[in-house]
Amino acid sequence: MTAYPPVARRALVSLARDSLVLAERAARRPMDHVRWTPPQRAFLESRSPFKLLRTGNQFGKTWAGACELIARCTGHHSYKPVRPPPIEAWVICKSWSQSIAIQQKVWRLLPRDEIVPETSFSAKNGFAGVQKAVVFRNGSVVRFKTVGQDTLDLESATIHYVWIDEPLGDEHTFGALQMRLRRTGGDIAITMTPATTGDLRWLRKLVDEGMVEDLHFRMEAANFVPVGATEPLRTEDGTPMDALWVEEQLAKTLPWQRGVRCHGEWEFSNATRALESFSRERHVVHGVHASGLLPARVELALGIDYGEDALRTCGVEVYVDTAGQHPRIFVVGEYAPQQGTTVDMDADGILEMLAGNGDRWSDLDAAWADKRYEGRTTRKNARLFHDAIARRLKVTGELRPQLRVAKRGLRRDHFWSSIRWLHEAMIRPGHFHVDASCAWTIEALEKWQGGEAEIYKDIIDALRYALRAYWGGRADQQGRVVRRRF
Ligand SMILES: Nc1ncnc2c1ncn2[C@@H]1O[C@H](COP(=O)(O)OP(=O)(O)O)[C@@H](O)[C@H]1O
Ligand SMILES: [Mg+2]
Repeated sequence: MTAYPPVARRALVSLARDSLVLAERAARRPMDHVRWTPPQRAFLESRSPFKLLRTGNQFGKTWAGACELIARCTGHHSYKPVRPPPIEAWVICKSWSQSIAIQQKVWRLLPRDEIVPETSFSAKNGFAGVQKAVVFRNGSVVRFKTVGQDTLDLESATIHYVWIDEPLGDEHTFGALQMRLRRTGGDIAITMTPATTGDLRWLRKLVDEGMVEDLHFRMEAANFVPVGATEPLRTEDGTPMDALWVEEQLAKTLPWQRGVRCHGEWEFSNATRALESFSRERHVVHGVHASGLLPARVELALGIDYGEDALRTCGVEVYVDTAGQHPRIFVVGEYAPQQGTTVDMDADGILEMLAGNGDRWSDLDAAWADKRYEGRTTRKNARLFHDAIARRLKVTGELRPQLRVAKRGLRRDHFWSSIRWLHEAMIRPGHFHVDASCAWTIEALEKWQGGEAEIYKDIIDALRYALRAYWGGRADQQGRVVRRRF
């Protein structure tokens, strides 16, 4: 052990004690140790009875909302005077899972010495008790309500503060809450990114009429640096949210979603192209096979989407180079018949497409198809396709590889995430190629506006399906038979 002179030892002991006290205080009162960013500060400083913090994702909206909530319950707010406690505060969420995520953030920021000791939180069930409540020593109470699940018994409730995290598409609930608050002279705060399927015109109208203070911040590096600090916030994996990160977020987001998801704008823009990053000059290759771009080993995959009319049943063949960090994609074949087809015609067409690249069914590593199509005169599904192809190849039993249903085992929101994945491949130099022979695919990538009913949607789906193992995540790749070409 090092021998310190008595004075130094005392100084060290006292230093250690001080830092222990500080750490303990931080654990008891986590909120006091957060340094807030300009958007968060603007929200916390706002004295409007009705305010809205409107930004893109990851700006720390929920944290700011949680801090405001807690400060109002305790009665000490660092930035303004608040109503003397006790108060009744409600947190309104859209879904139970969202509610749990918010409760978790509130729990992290709660001052441990100001809540009743019986308060307990579990990551699975949220705050304990039927009421899902946080009770403060001073008598303030926070209740978490989920629209549509909890009866918002507004008639009998006395509420002083309401926090809505992420938009309520529902004007009605909002009106009722507002009426209730009017009786107590209570306040309301909304923190959100306006990405919702609901209609937000009512809220916009309130903003335009000046009824709501609209604190709107765009995705700019300065908005991620806490006031008084020099370093920006970091993401959960430790990446600094600096100018480079901001640029990357903007590039990664689909152009027409950028306004809303990054900048907190009210509406998705009317970009006429869903995949604006696709360009003939950068992505189309005349003769992929002879181009020298293909590595010695690629994985082969096929995607099939069905419909009844011309151009609604489509097949796409892709080669994927998986040697690097991100898959490099080569679209080498398409089947896009110009007239209505039967399953038998489709089976012929798809095998012909493979043959055009010198490939047989057995060369494929994976084959993915749509679930089913029930039309006026035609029925198409993976089983019928499988059987039609198997008959042609004189295979009895299962084909190898099997024809698998692309949607099986996916979360519901896979659609836009897979489109975003394509977009990311397109902006990564050298990672997305389409052979010039795939004229319909090229036209679709250029012209598809993102709509379900557009004629271009089916070949886009076939392409997504072909690449299913790559954007579908790890779990979905299990059981994939990986055989390679050459
Ligand atoms: N001022 C801050 N200082 C440090 N970390 C913060 C701050 N604000 C937010 N965070 C971190 O960023 C993460 C995302 O914040 P959150 O409030 O969930 O963002 P949003 O609701 O805007 O998507 C939080 O889990 C938290 O760890
Ligand atoms: Mg949030």
